[in-house]
Amino acid sequence: MIVPGKPFEPRIRPMELKDVQRVWEIDVASFSLPWPERSYRFEILENPASHCTILEVSQDGQQPEIAGMIVMWFILDEAHIGTIAIDKPYRRLGLGRILLADALMDAYQKGIRMSFLEVRRSNQAAQAMYEQFGFQVAGVRNRYYKDNGEDALLMTLNPIQPARLKQLREKPLIVESGN
Ligand SMILES: CC(C)(COP(=O)(O)OP(=O)(O)OC[C@H]1O[C@@H](n2cnc3c(N)ncnc32)[C@H](O)[C@@H]1OP(=O)(O)O)[C@@H](O)C(=O)NCCC(=O)NCCS
Repeated sequence: MIVPGKPFEPRIRPMELKDVQRVWEIDVASFSLPWPERSYRFEILENPASHCTILEVSQDGQQPEIAGMIVMWFILDEAHIGTIAIDKPYRRLGLGRILLADALMDAYQKGIRMSFLEVRRSNQAAQAMYEQFGFQVAGVRNRYYKDNGEDALLMTLNPIQPARLKQLREKPLIVESGN
């Protein structure tokens, strides 16, 4: 855990097999329908369309801890966001924003020009983050989520805007006051 009130360093890197257990813990803590752990192994090892990335943070030269992850599927010129989560103690610091900005910039640099995702109708935190990037609601997938029959909003970003990504990536992180 990072100590509130002190600066910390985020680092974004490709997900490796050794990360899967921690990533899965974050998934289970973040979603009512988590992916099975083996899905992450599959995405890393067997799905050539998959781009799995983690964000880790370190403070005072301590061992970095994984704070979040994103999985995107690149299909032709589209990037489908399969999952993104930041572990609860690390939320609202700007980490979701930089993780998503980095992943979309990577997609853009590979020639991808649009992105889409599904998000629960009730998930206002995620929707607010996506709106900052320019994602807009393009449709509804009725009763998409099996646990409670909730609708998914289909959100699309078309085109991906690299100048906006750069701005969001460079916005300072929040260092919590600790009070
Ligand atoms: C969605 C999620 C990844 C955001 O990560 P985060 O690191 O907390 O987000 P950030 O601190 O980078 O915030 C980026 C923007 O998102 C929005 N946001 C994030 N959390 C919010 C909240 N609780 N309420 C309202 N807006 C919120 C804000 O617009 C924020 O910008 P601001 O700081 O300028 O106000 C995180 O809440 C999470 O992991 N949720 C559970 C998993 C999930 O729902 N994933 C999305 C599935 S579609």
